[in-house]
Amino acid sequence: MNASLKNPRPVLAARPAIVNRVSDLIGHTPLFELLRTADGRRIVLKLEQSNPTGSAKIRMAQQMLDEAEQDGSLRPGGRVVESTSGNTGMGLALLAAERGYRFTAVVDHHAAADKLRTMRAYGAELIYVSDGDALATADREALAERIADADPDAIWTEQHNNPANGRGYTRVAHELLAALDGHIDLLVGAVGTGGSLFGTARELKPWLPTMTVIGVEPVGSIAFGGEGADYYQSGTGTPAGAEIGALVDYSLLDEGVKVSDAAAFNTARYLGRKKALLVGGSAGGVIYHALSLIDRLPPGGTMVVLVCDGGEKYLDTVFNDDWMAARNLIDDSVATELAPIFARFESTAATQVEAA
Ligand SMILES: Cc1ncc(COP(=O)(O)O)c(C=O)c1O
Repeated sequence: MNASLKNPRPVLAARPAIVNRVSDLIGHTPLFELLRTADGRRIVLKLEQSNPTGSAKIRMAQQMLDEAEQDGSLRPGGRVVESTSGNTGMGLALLAAERGYRFTAVVDHHAAADKLRTMRAYGAELIYVSDGDALATADREALAERIADADPDAIWTEQHNNPANGRGYTRVAHELLAALDGHIDLLVGAVGTGGSLFGTARELKPWLPTMTVIGVEPVGSIAFGGEGADYYQSGTGTPAGAEIGALVDYSLLDEGVKVSDAAAFNTARYLGRKKALLVGGSAGGVIYHALSLIDRLPPGGTMVVLVCDGGEKYLDTVFNDDWMAARNLIDDSVATELAPIFARFESTAATQVEAA
């Protein structure tokens, strides 16, 4: 069903031609049409890597700090503490530098090394929970809480349970409504804290009540049920032992699916080579699943895929043959699966153009 605009659309403030704070560059991220069929169905990617720090998460970092300043919990010269796999921390680190706060990131070695280096470049203090490279979300959160509790000047932004996280994506919804003229049939995104997918979906729903919302998590993540197991997709999912975030709103979710590391990473690698588009591992997983949904769109229908970050942060992992091979993650069958999907629609679209 092609959902249509019900209410007057929100007004989107234009970006000034010249800005004087880096955070003024947040938002207005581009849309990229990954695939279009002859009958006008299309998959459109919202490229959130165009934000400062190269990910969607700086939007919620900004909202969490704005609300903490407004409610008085974060005072001038104060300290911000967060458990992070990198992208949230990079956003908080940039904003803390801009606003004069101290930022302490509680991290593990599962995070991409470049994300950790970037936080340091913005002046953040990094505290590791462990020496190994296992994902240690639950330990990180416990330590972040303890550090903030012990310091009267500190707040723990607690991204997994902070409603400001979801509200940080209100503008994503407004940008999509404006750019797509209010037509979105399917919204697909990765689910970690749930802030980006459900924050966007919640704001879109009053305009698009029939829009279908599909969440993607790694195989081994537990938000959509099933057994917990290790996974390499960074930033996304809920590992066994961690609490499912309060932002994961099952009432807004139509379908929750799991994608393996191999499918996610080989899709990201395929897109780099065949479409000149570098996306991160979680986005690879979301796009892998999105491509399987194309036949569910009605003629003229639009699917929006939220791309959390770009591939540049994963050159040592997803795009490194040795790293992939050592973990038995190289899987050529993914390219064999994806190539005919693109070929099928590229040829029908070309035929239509020739016929026109
Ligand atoms: C690369 C990446 N993908 C997906 C997500 C999941 O986003 P959310 O926490 O909004 O569900 C994150 C969150 O940090 C991330 O860093």
